[in-house]
Amino acid sequence: MKINHHYLNLPENYLFSEVAKRTREFQACFPDVSIIKLSIGDVSRPLPGVVVQAMKRACTEMGHGKTFRGYGPEIGYPWLRDAIAKHYREQFQVELDVDEIIISDGAKSDLSNLLDIFDHNATVAMCDPVYPVYLESNVMLGRKPQFFYATAINNFLPLPDEHITADIIYLCNPANPTGVCYSRAQLKQWVDFARQRQSVIIYDAAYACFINDSNLPHSIYEIDGARECAIEVNSFSKMAGFTGVRCGYTIVPKNLCTSDGVSLNQLWRRRQTTKFNGVSYIVQRGAEAALTPVGLQSINKNLAYYRRNVCLIRKTLDQLHWSYVGGIHSPYVWVRCPGYRTAWECFDFLLKTTGIVCTPGVGFGTAGESYIRLTGFNTYANTRTACQRLLALQNQKMHE
Ligand code: MLT
Repeated sequence: MKINHHYLNLPENYLFSEVAKRTREFQACFPDVSIIKLSIGDVSRPLPGVVVQAMKRACTEMGHGKTFRGYGPEIGYPWLRDAIAKHYREQFQVELDVDEIIISDGAKSDLSNLLDIFDHNATVAMCDPVYPVYLESNVMLGRKPQFFYATAINNFLPLPDEHITADIIYLCNPANPTGVCYSRAQLKQWVDFARQRQSVIIYDAAYACFINDSNLPHSIYEIDGARECAIEVNSFSKMAGFTGVRCGYTIVPKNLCTSDGVSLNQLWRRRQTTKFNGVSYIVQRGAEAALTPVGLQSINKNLAYYRRNVCLIRKTLDQLHWSYVGGIHSPYVWVRCPGYRTAWECFDFLLKTTGIVCTPGVGFGTAGESYIRLTGFNTYANTRTACQRLLALQNQKMHE
């Protein structure tokens, strides 16, 4: 049997499956410990009422012969693509053609599936630490990516340099896992670099909804020249609480073409129409409702809720004198492991002493070996309890 042997180069488990496995094992040994997860970026706020109502109406339609729908357009219903174009125009002053927006079941799959439209020999570069999906999807294809490192030396915001020679560059802004955010001028450096080198940027904007400053770029298309070099991937998951509902989209500008005029938009549509049958009508109606003024109002309340959590986490870390970055325009805080521990040692230490589950930084790459990631996505009550437990550590020796 001939398997794709590149899979053997992957770690045994996906990072968040490994974290979940170790948490389950710990809980089995210590059933009385109340565990608080500040690990995977999963939302805790319920869906906005207007989204639920829209999905209920869509369900009712599906139960009547006259309004029932079978297969929808593989690339998404035009009314949802229109709603996204309107959202970009009104919120970010970015003009998109609706044909540039292609609906999917979320950012994770698109960030990986996009590789289908590039040559197998295409080279790829990405940050270290990085969302593991970028790296693992490339490892599955037998690629060895180039890395640019996010460290304290560059304020965790690496910029392009001559060592990066890749055809495809993954960028995540605000960054997962570090939670930091590029300015327009910094992002412009990446766009200019990609254009000069004729590279394509795959831009993951899944956390853009957390940006709290209109001077920072919410979409890469706010940067001149990005339409010639960037594909933007986004999702309703973190913004509208769709982690369990599943809806996202990828924007492939029509200007984005190879030197001999092949349109990447055309290739991505072609890929999706063959391999994907579209997101359910019910879910797309929910996503459309999320972008209405009432939907956006509820979303902003939920985002404010998570910001309050993350602010509490930062305040607690300040009190503990633990060094960290992020958490201002992001739900993630990137924390230097206290007491010279490695990332997994810190994971074990926090789990045993506080019942808090973090994500070990090394799971995002070698540059994360001395870091852990905490998230503000849990409930406020749990976040507050977690912070109280962390503060109680102040009285313990951190080197124990
Ligand atoms: C994360 O926790 O890094 C991500 O949110 C998980 C995901 O979206 O796949």
